[in-house]
Amino acid sequence: MHLSTIVASLALASSVLAVPTNSKTKEPSLYKAYRDRGRDFIGTALTIRDEPAEPEIIDQDFNSVTPENAMKWESTEPSRNNFTFAGGDAVVTFAKKYDQQIHCHTLVWHSQLPNWVSSGGFDNQTLISIMENHIKNVAGRWKAACTRWDVVNEALNEDGTYRKSVFLDTIGEAYIPIAFRLAAKYAKGSKLYYNDYNLEYNGAKTEGAKKIVKLIKSYGVRIDGVGYQAHLASESTPTAPGAVPDQATLEAALKATANEGVDVVYTEIDVRMNTPATPEKLKVQADAWERIARSCIAVKRCVGMTVWGISDKYSWIPGVFATEGAALLWDENYQKKPAYNGFLKGIKEGKKN
Ligand code: G3I
Repeated sequence: MHLSTIVASLALASSVLAVPTNSKTKEPSLYKAYRDRGRDFIGTALTIRDEPAEPEIIDQDFNSVTPENAMKWESTEPSRNNFTFAGGDAVVTFAKKYDQQIHCHTLVWHSQLPNWVSSGGFDNQTLISIMENHIKNVAGRWKAACTRWDVVNEALNEDGTYRKSVFLDTIGEAYIPIAFRLAAKYAKGSKLYYNDYNLEYNGAKTEGAKKIVKLIKSYGVRIDGVGYQAHLASESTPTAPGAVPDQATLEAALKATANEGVDVVYTEIDVRMNTPATPEKLKVQADAWERIARSCIAVKRCVGMTVWGISDKYSWIPGVFATEGAALLWDENYQKKPAYNGFLKGIKEGKKN
């Protein structure tokens, strides 16, 4: 064979090889677009269920999962010192298979807390030892797996004061730095987060989160980030009369704690509306998702965004707020909604400050 023919054949072969064999690589990808902007992760809440579309979507669009319920106290220590890890282990196995980070959720929370803890009548020392035993076993179990931990969840009231709970009532505000100290001990390799909702637009509560960051640091304890849950609405609804905040408000809220020297992430985004959805409402919703993404890109320390589920079919919202929902990026049939494109656009085009 003539040399030029050989060269031509090699060139043809390499150009054929260069053609992606997987047509999915041509599809947009939320996390790849986000990584192209120099940030870390786009995640989803994960409940493992028999829906073949979900692993495919996760593979394509996400690089982080948050166990929706499997690592909570009631799931992991339903009775004292009796640990049940099967649900969380399944999440870890899934995450390894699909090369996902895990945002572990959550160690100390007043809700989904078994009665034996909340109504046990324990004194200060005993409750601290119960917290230690819980964190030691749960964080210890998944110490190699958890990229981040929500160490303390929802410790604030709307006015920025501490929420009443068995932890606050028994231990005082010190339960927060104590929980972080224990997490730093047993989850050495994980980034440690404080996580709450309505921080995105309620200034008093955002100030409360700032106070928590300062409190933890004043104990000489590590905190790496604040999670803004972002359970928002795209229009005024019975349970969200303020509707979705504008971009400046979102940015200011993120900066309020980022300026304390921690990372910030949106941890549980959904944007609900009054159902049923209409094309007009879906457009308004897409704009809201775009603003959220833009606000994150605008804040240097905003390192990730997690959406609270894939399909509207399984969102927690209609079960809790009967006339509201349609809050996610995929509809009940796993078709992308305008919100998907809005979110992607915000990720790609958001301006950096
Ligand atoms: O597992 C039981 C099942 O056995 C039973 O048949 C069924 C009947 O109701 O309940 C099932 O438990 C439900 C659990 O989700 C698992 O599906 C609970 O009732 C239900 O209350 C629970 O809801 C979760 C909720 O947290 C509890 O507070 C939602 O899935 C979850 O999305 C939601 O997530 C929270 C975050 O953790 C913290 N921030 C707010 C966010 C939304 O509420």
